[in-house]
Amino acid sequence: MKRAVYPGSFDPVTKGHLDIIERAAAVADELVVGVLNNNEKTPLFSVEERVNMLKDVTSHIPNVRVEAFSGLSVEFCKKCEASFLVRGLRAVTDFEYELQMAQTNRSLERGVDTLFFTTELNYAYISSTIVKEVAFYGGDISGFVPPQVAKHVYAKIGTAKNHEDGV
Ligand code: PNS
Repeated sequence: MKRAVYPGSFDPVTKGHLDIIERAAAVADELVVGVLNNNEKTPLFSVEERVNMLKDVTSHIPNVRVEAFSGLSVEFCKKCEASFLVRGLRAVTDFEYELQMAQTNRSLERGVDTLFFTTELNYAYISSTIVKEVAFYGGDISGFVPPQVAKHVYAKIGTAKNHEDGV
C-alpha cells in the first residue's frame, strides 16, 4: 500500500490545496491530509475547524482521510506508515523553502520522500494568507476557496457583507 501524507496549515483550505489533494489521491492508495496544530502561529481557525472544513471538501474522495498532528511532519508520516510526503509548488518563490524542507525531512527520515505537485496555473497565485486578507476587506473569495469554506471565512472574519449570494 502506497500511503502519502500531505501536511500543511490549511488555514483555510483553498482551491489550490484541493487540486493538489485530488491529484495526489489519484496516485497514492491512501492520502492522509495532516493539519498542523501549531502553537507558534496564531491561525484564524482552530485545528478542529480546519480538520472539519477539510473533511467536508474532501468527502467525495474515498481514499483521503484528514487528521490533526503536532510536531514534525516526518514523525507524523512514520506514525501513518506513509512513505511519501506531498507538497505543492505554486511558483519559483516556493522552491527555496520547499527544497530546504524536503532536504531536511529527508535527512531526518530516509524512509520518507517528498513528492511535489505543481499547482494548476489557475490557482498558482492563491494562498490562505491572501484569502484571509481579501475576506478581511470584504472582497470576493469565491474564486479561491470552496463555497462552504468561504462561508466559514466570512463568518469568522465578520465581513459576510455582499458576497452571501455568491457563496
Ligand atoms: O501550509 P504550510 O504552512 O506551508 O505547511 C508547512 C508545514 C506544516 C508543512 C511545515 O511547517 C511543517 O512540516 N511543520 C511541522 C514541523 C516540521 O516538520 N518541521 C521540519 C520541516 S523543515
